[in-house]
Amino acid sequence: MATILVTGGCGFIGSNFIREVLATDADTDIINFDALTYAGNLANLADLANHPRYRFVRGDITDRDVVLKALKNDVRAVINFAAESHVDRSIIDSGPFIKTNVVGTQILLDCARQTKVPRFVQVSTDEVYGSLGETGLFSESTPLAPNSPYSAAKASADMLVRAYVHTFGMDAVITRCSNNYGPYQFPEKLIPLFITNIMRDQQVPVYGDGMQIRDWIHVRDHARGVEMAWRKGKGGEVYNFGGRCEMANIHLTKKLLELLGKTESLIKFVQDRPGHDRRYAIDCSKAEAELGWQPTVTFEEGLRETIAWYQANQEWVNQVRSGEYLKYYDLQYANRLAD
Ligand code: NAD
Ligand code: TYD
Repeated sequence: MATILVTGGCGFIGSNFIREVLATDADTDIINFDALTYAGNLANLADLANHPRYRFVRGDITDRDVVLKALKNDVRAVINFAAESHVDRSIIDSGPFIKTNVVGTQILLDCARQTKVPRFVQVSTDEVYGSLGETGLFSESTPLAPNSPYSAAKASADMLVRAYVHTFGMDAVITRCSNNYGPYQFPEKLIPLFITNIMRDQQVPVYGDGMQIRDWIHVRDHARGVEMAWRKGKGGEVYNFGGRCEMANIHLTKKLLELLGKTESLIKFVQDRPGHDRRYAIDCSKAEAELGWQPTVTFEEGLRETIAWYQANQEWVNQVRSGEYLKYYDLQYANRLAD
């Protein structure tokens, strides 16, 4: 039996990853190490709380003592999902992004090194590569050119991981994935925000001209990618993951309206995000060739399933939307959403 420490496991992708590993691998124990920020929700794994191979520890990755204590359990790998993850929040206040995404990663790396953890997986993002023009794809050798405080903090963490591999010989891999969607995503990101607004006949705020392009991937495909990078990835390497599914925001918005049976009158074009990246698109051929990974969920099927999940989990949605999120949302976006 091997134990892994998953940080940020109460968030969207981390909780899906834990769900996947517990369901498919009887030889791995999981410690979920999460600070429970506004984005962390114990309800995301409530059904697994008493699972014999699962344990939750509340802790902050910037707190060295608590991290070291958690790592004293003969941990075989650290999988670092913990992060501040929302670009719009990073534009309002980059402080927590530097603290968690940069300092937190540095502390995790130091503690993993000190306790001789054999493998470290840094879950990064395609946003570290910046923005593409109309053509081309991000490959693992695309130079880093982050444009938002969020992506700058994630790129800084990637640089630290690279340096720990080079300087200390740490066995670490970095994964960089495109935009995820699926169950348990906090409704501040485009897809869950728009689904839950449309379900309530509320308007959906499309930034700028809505022609920005994202490459959408189902969270289960990303979770499998991280798992394969952890098990099969070569130390020091970077692996990109993407859904091969580019779509402009306005087209996605219209698709969601159609699937939910609502009209385009709910679309509200609002002021653009400052520094808004125009296009992301991933070349994931390295992960396909070296890890044997492939995206499996089609966007059509994944979107339908995701909408059905939000419809079936209204209580989860109500709890999340009535919490700190709404307070924040009202304060920061009142001007954008006001009729
Ligand atoms: P999320 O915001 O849903 O979850 C983040 C989790 O980290 C939460 O449970 C939160 O409580 C926890 N956390 C935050 N600060 C912490 C701290 N200091 N110590 C311990 N825990 C802390 O994020 P997500 O969408 O699940 O993203 C997970 C990771 O994947 C992030 O590193 C993100 O950069 C990366 N990523 C996300 C996407 C995407 O589309 N969402 C795409 C590519 C990569
Ligand atoms: P988001 O889900 O925040 O992910 P990211 O910024 O990390 O790509 O946004 C996805 C796209 O949708 C991005 O181009 C910004 C846009 N967007 C809107 O148009 N309106 C919104 O309310 C949100 C949250 C995002």
